[in-house]
Amino acid sequence: MIQLPLSKLSNVGTTIFSQMTQLANENQAINLSQGFPDFMPDSELLNYVDDFIKKGFNQYAPLGGMIGLKEEIARKIENSHQAIYHPDAEITVTAGGTQAIFTAIAAFIKRDDEVIIFEPAYDCYEPTVELFGGIVKRFEMKAPHYEIDWNAVKGLISEKTKMIILNNPNNPSGKILTENDIRELIKIVKDTSILILSDEVYENIVFDGKQHLSICRYPELKERSLLVASFGKLFHVTGWKIGYCAAPKALTDEFRKVHQFNVFCVNTPIQLALAEYMKNDDHYNQLSSFFQKKRDFLRQGLASTSFELLDCEGTYFQALKYDKVSDKNDFDFASELTVTHKVASVPFSSFYKNKVNENVIRLCFAKKEETLEKAIENLTKI
Ligand SMILES: Cc1ncc(COP(=O)(O)O)c(C=O)c1O
Repeated sequence: MIQLPLSKLSNVGTTIFSQMTQLANENQAINLSQGFPDFMPDSELLNYVDDFIKKGFNQYAPLGGMIGLKEEIARKIENSHQAIYHPDAEITVTAGGTQAIFTAIAAFIKRDDEVIIFEPAYDCYEPTVELFGGIVKRFEMKAPHYEIDWNAVKGLISEKTKMIILNNPNNPSGKILTENDIRELIKIVKDTSILILSDEVYENIVFDGKQHLSICRYPELKERSLLVASFGKLFHVTGWKIGYCAAPKALTDEFRKVHQFNVFCVNTPIQLALAEYMKNDDHYNQLSSFFQKKRDFLRQGLASTSFELLDCEGTYFQALKYDKVSDKNDFDFASELTVTHKVASVPFSSFYKNKVNENVIRLCFAKKEETLEKAIENLTKI
């Protein structure tokens, strides 16, 4: 038997999302753990896909993506943020947000480069940085407000800092960056060559009339940023794994050097369908109000319980603080909730390297009203 080489990711196991989904399935629990809708996408979009497949658009797309889709993406960004990206030279269609993040890190991070992330953090940032020999420096945002202390972030910067990864709106906390956060960030990166990888997959899910402050609105940041988005989140099609990266040409050129050997190109008929569907801005402009109704339904349903509902400014996740309900740690509590009360969630500690436990769990409300209703019924009985 051969001796296996040392694992490049010795600390990495199955993601918490898969673990909780499996536990939910084994226990016939309502699955509010993984971030995906349990309802159908718009039939208009499905019909476009069907049409393009049947019309014979089934072969490789160009490396950077179909031009019609890239033009629609550029138009969307310009209309939403008054920022201009050249569709052909500065936008790359990717196999979801995850591949865009992986490719961006692979393209720029070398051994011993330092990368700053903000925790609670989406799970793919850290292992990807480590895979390329980079070193992760973390700032831990804490419950209940998950604010960023920019002085502390400044303390993490060294001459080795190559990249800052942002996630705005933030999964799992539901926080969005404020104008002040952005001003502080601009001050920190001024006169440095630090790149920004801005994961904005929930860009169109922001509540209560607040505005999503994309990195591309600020020329001082845009010039050094790779902006990542996901059609999975935008159009309720997480299983299609399609998204994009928008970045200035010099950054896009490097990004594509990796992209071409990573996936080369992405699903042709789906790109064509998305391009057609995106011609109507309503398809994404109504997303915030669509999800705000779901957020409010869940929050109202849980208002009379002993759970503390933390602020939810964006994304489709609601954070619940449960110290008045149980003194178990969040992993044990989430497991108990799944097995005994038949509602699956994700413990917040899994979004921190140091497993910070503040008795907070995450519920996904991208679900049909009847699913949320059943979950509320079970949670109110506790
Ligand atoms: C913050 C964040 N970034 C990236 C992704 C990945 O997006 P995609 O499913 O398009 O790969 C997700 C998916 O849940 C996410 O929550």
